Amino acid sequence: MGIIVKGIFGLAVGLLGYWFYAKLSAVPEFPVYPEDTWWGKGDPIKGNTDIKPFEIDVSTEILDDLKHRLDIALPLQPPLEGVKQHYGMNSNLLQKIIDHWTTKYNWTERQSFLNQYPQYTTMIQGLNIHFLHVKPQVDKASNIKILPLMLLHGWPGSVREFYEMIPFLTQPQNGRRAVFEVIIPSMPGYGFSDAAAKSGMNPARMAQIFKILMHRLGHDKFYVQGGDWGSIIATIQTHLYPDSILGAHLNFCTCKSNICLLKLLLLGTTFPSLIATKEEIPLFTPVSSIFADLILESGYLHIQATKPDTVGTALRESPIGLAAYILEKFVTWTNLQWKDLEDGGLSRKYTYDKLLDNIMIYWVTRSITTSQRLYAEMFNKEMYLKGFDNIPTPSKVPIACARFENEPAHQPESLLRLKYSNLQQLNNYKDGGHYPAFELPEVLANDVYAFIEKIEIQGFL
Ligand SMILES: *[C@@H]1O[C@H](CO)[C@@H](O)[C@H](O)[C@H]1NC(C)=O
Repeated sequence: MGIIVKGIFGLAVGLLGYWFYAKLSAVPEFPVYPEDTWWGKGDPIKGNTDIKPFEIDVSTEILDDLKHRLDIALPLQPPLEGVKQHYGMNSNLLQKIIDHWTTKYNWTERQSFLNQYPQYTTMIQGLNIHFLHVKPQVDKASNIKILPLMLLHGWPGSVREFYEMIPFLTQPQNGRRAVFEVIIPSMPGYGFSDAAAKSGMNPARMAQIFKILMHRLGHDKFYVQGGDWGSIIATIQTHLYPDSILGAHLNFCTCKSNICLLKLLLLGTTFPSLIATKEEIPLFTPVSSIFADLILESGYLHIQATKPDTVGTALRESPIGLAAYILEKFVTWTNLQWKDLEDGGLSRKYTYDKLLDNIMIYWVTRSITTSQRLYAEMFNKEMYLKGFDNIPTPSKVPIACARFENEPAHQPESLLRLKYSNLQQLNNYKDGGHYPAFELPEVLANDVYAFIEKIEIQGFL
């Protein structure tokens, strides 16, 4: 090839590469969602927006029906010999938990436990939204600052995940100069919050509903904390309401922009040290095995993103099916290694009562199908085209990421910084997985304090 031909060829490749990179790294505008929306059945009606006290009070009809279904359950299919949790929830382990459910789990007691904190509902955009609202007991003379904090759960969790963490946040802690007024909503379609009757209830819509809730409670500005969907919703709140969100504390941080994925794939597989520190490299390499785990663990996501109602029908008919489906996620997402354990490791972090409380919230509210629809509302072409993932969070909103080692997927800090423009705190923990509020409530609470005190000190706490 002549030098000129080579030159032209080189230039063409360069231009193509540049065009491709520019296209991949384009940052779209965050979409605007009107607030005068109606998610309830039929046409909008002028509703009342009072905040009404709420208590869980499950009817004997629902409890008798549950008891009946557990009584007539078919014997479980025995697991394959020697197989632990690798074919899904091990039925020997499941049987142990069902035995606990039928002989030891006492709903009367559990219901009072769940009712120990004040709960309310209020109508937003046609949906009755349920939330816990716990105000701190602080001596007026004590100089301790009270800050509003919203806590957001995910799937297959519920407000139950936060119960053990609430006292750490709402009671003054030694040496801390702030304490929190916590507001913990059930996501629309989850537990005691109504489900949308119309399609489109995606995380951005939930972010809006929860902002409206906080404003209705008199908190124009507030902090937010979340993992799983809660972290996605909290992140979207920073985009939509940068003037309302004082800071977002996340225990599930990811950058899924085109550039992050490209770097992860190209550099993560070849020269990981270009994007990560020595300590971080084992958390996300070998990339191929992380992707293999992702495929092994994400079948549910594909189903729920495409046909949530079909599997939902089976799960809302069978308490045992529902328990298996949800418990499996507590085994694997608390620690992927626990698939190798006979008991799924569950009792290392949870009591069966705790796990069953969460399952009961799905069961008694008949909300498994509607909870799963969130995946279909998020993972679809329309949402993908909006390119949320390519938009960095606004630099005005401080972010904290708490990385718990057994979280199923991690990314290096250099990538997280591409997503979270104002990452003020990044702490790593050797223990804990996907549910730190449930697993390590004090550790997570302390991480939240550390972050928020840092932010408040900048504004003279
Ligand atoms: C369940 O707990 C309540 C309240 O503590 C108690 O009165 C009741 O006897 C318990 N039921 C069973 C079956 O143990």
